Formats: sequence, structure tokens, C-alpha cells
Amino acid sequence: KYEKLWLTIGTASLVLFLAILIITGLHNGHKPAASGREYVNPDKVDQIEPFNKPGLNKVDGKDYDYELVIVASAFNYQPGKVEIPKGSKVKIIATSKDTLHGFSLPGTNVNMMLEPGHISEYTKTFNDKGEYLIICNEYCGVGHADMKSMIKVV
Ligand code: CUA
Repeated sequence: KYEKLWLTIGTASLVLFLAILIITGLHNGHKPAASGREYVNPDKVDQIEPFNKPGLNKVDGKDYDYELVIVASAFNYQPGKVEIPKGSKVKIIATSKDTLHGFSLPGTNVNMMLEPGHISEYTKTFNDKGEYLIICNEYCGVGHADMKSMIKVV
């Protein structure tokens, strides 16, 4: 007799727990991107602006100088090596085409998670000349350790 009661209570709390998880997930899952757009269909990244043209683009009339558009996929970044003029304020706009990747510049504050379908952004001024290694710091498969690129500030 009591077994049935406990089963009901158990099921009810499980349902409640899942509901709370789903609700908090919906509310806190993603911070809106500054550009106003947050999502991109991961299957169509190559066709959707700005990801159809990965690379460094000079911009006018914004509070930064360049947009650096990055597309990550197993196991590389597009574009490859990027040259940035010293003193430039750069808005990095990045996404992933396949699985979860990282975009980290060791020794700086840049450390982003690139989720498929989600646009990640970070604005940074590159004041010092030098080479900045880009590494993937989210495990993404057999090629993870070799997933690297570079920003060269000239
Ligand atoms: Cu991409 Cu690890």
C-alpha cells in the first residue's frame, strides 16, 4: 500500500526536479550577444553572415576597429594565422560548425567556449606586438591537442 504512495512521491519529485532544470536552463543558458544575434544554424554556418567570410575585417562607425570572424571545426580554425595591426581594438566573433570547441589565447583574458549554433563574442585591444597562440581548450576529439592557430600582432 505504502509502496504505491512512495512511488507517486518519487515520480512527482523527479518531474518537479526536471521541470526546474528545464526552466533554469532556458533562462540562464545563453547570454545575448552584443550584436543582437545569438544563434546560427550550425549546418549553414558557411552560408550565413558573417561566418561565410571568416577573417579580419576593418569596420567603420563602431567603437572598435576590426571584426575577427572565426569558424571552428574539428580540428582547426578558419582563418588560419591572422595578422592584426598593433593597437587595434578587435571584436572577435566566433562559432563552431560541429562540436564544442574552445578559443583561448593563453596569457590574455580571451577564453571562450564555442558551441555549435551559438555566437560567442569578445572584444580585445592588442597593444603589444607578438605572437598569440590560439588553442582549443575544450576536448573535441582525437585531433583536439593539435587544434591550434595564431594571431600575430604587427
Ligand atoms: Cu577543438 Cu578541442
